[in-house]
Amino acid sequence: MVQIVPSLLSANFANLEQQIHLVETAGAKRLHIDVMDGHFVPNITIGPLVVSAIRKITTLHLETHLMIENPENYIPQFVSAGSDTVIIHVETTKDIPGELKRIRSLGARAGLVINPPTPFTSVEPFLSMINHLLIMTVNPGFGGQKMIQSALEKVRLAKSAAQKYGFPIEIDGGVNLVTLASAVSAGTDLLVAGNAVFGESDPALAFMDLERRANA
Ligand code: DX5
Ligand code: ZN
Repeated sequence: MVQIVPSLLSANFANLEQQIHLVETAGAKRLHIDVMDGHFVPNITIGPLVVSAIRKITTLHLETHLMIENPENYIPQFVSAGSDTVIIHVETTKDIPGELKRIRSLGARAGLVINPPTPFTSVEPFLSMINHLLIMTVNPGFGGQKMIQSALEKVRLAKSAAQKYGFPIEIDGGVNLVTLASAVSAGTDLLVAGNAVFGESDPALAFMDLERRANA
């Protein structure tokens, strides 16, 4: 079954608990948390303090997407805050095998993410070491952008390794009721959706519609 993973980036930050419970009650299993530092991407979002506050009010699987420079300096904080999966960018990390190992040794699942302009060959050497592969289908930094369809080619390229090593393939950016079909047919297991869930007047209904459509 293909899962929709709501991204908190488009939620009402003045009422995160209510927003999270909406999608949890609607059947979400995971929550995508976008961490931005104003350096690797132009925007600034949330840090470990907020992740640990979220941890206390939900049992959803928390996947923390680190869009930050020098992620190695913050991995322990995001794991101890309660992240179940920590996802690091192949573009930011100097010692990728070392950091993936560190995430796992701290007790979380280790994810790797690749930006649209970065060639698939840059993640290929690490596919045997990951628990999660995230393929950006927009340039990171903002919600509500248009999906870059050509990035879906990386889903196809990753599929045999994903089956061999048993990790899910997730895409992030521009998912909506129209674009999800091409992502699902490329072989995506998890679809992050920010604006298409929390940008709607009824996020629970929007989540359920997306998940139904993704599995039709
Ligand atoms: C973008 C973030 C995404 C974002 C996706 O940098 O990584 O997770 O929330 O938002 P939508 O679904 O609105 O494109
Ligand atoms: Zn993200």
